[in-house]
Amino acid sequence: MKVEGNIEKYYHYAFPMQTILVTCNDETGKTNIITLAWHTPISRKPPLYGISIAPKRYSHALIEKSKEFVINFIPYSLVEAAQFCGTHSGLSTDKLCKTGLTLVPSKKLSTPLIKEGYAHLECKLAKSVPFGDHTLFVGEVIVVTADEDAFKNELLRTDQIHPLYYIGENAYTTLDRAKRKTF
Ligand SMILES: Cc1cc2nc3c(=O)[nH]c(=O)nc-3n(C[C@H](O)[C@H](O)[C@H](O)COP(=O)(O)O)c2cc1C
Repeated sequence: MKVEGNIEKYYHYAFPMQTILVTCNDETGKTNIITLAWHTPISRKPPLYGISIAPKRYSHALIEKSKEFVINFIPYSLVEAAQFCGTHSGLSTDKLCKTGLTLVPSKKLSTPLIKEGYAHLECKLAKSVPFGDHTLFVGEVIVVTADEDAFKNELLRTDQIHPLYYIGENAYTTLDRAKRKTF
């Protein structure tokens, strides 16, 4: 039997959603970090990646101005940092200081990477489109980097890397001892 759900929470049916940290800079070069679950690859050629951010977030203004951002894919071990960066605004909190995360320079942008992440997409803003109560920022991916042990033959090493997933209502999970089948 199917039960009808709450349409306002339609996106709960997409859980678990991989949770990422996005870095973005202010005009002085100070870096803010926002936690995002709404993000997706959009195009192979050109390589485009989309992130959906509500206009009220501080990061929204930063990305509109700097026109760049970095996607940091993170392991489950950063769950506390992700929850913190997803519940505090960079407008009033130095999230870098509070989480103890480490920034390292990116290859082609002013915006840095988060060292503790396992893979990174350096994105230049290609387009921003408002949709309802969020804005879709579409970034052209100009450089990708990853920890050397994170991927083997371009496949994520799920025996080594346990990505962070959000399942709603302040709860997270990961792919620990995930079932796996390769064709
Ligand atoms: C797991 C998780 C996922 C989130 N995903 C998004 C998202 O996809 N888009 C968004 O606008 N906010 C999302 N948020 C909320 C922002 O991360 C949160 O409002 C944050 O404090 C904004 O920071 P800022 O004001 O420094 O930009 C998420 C929060 C959590 C905890």
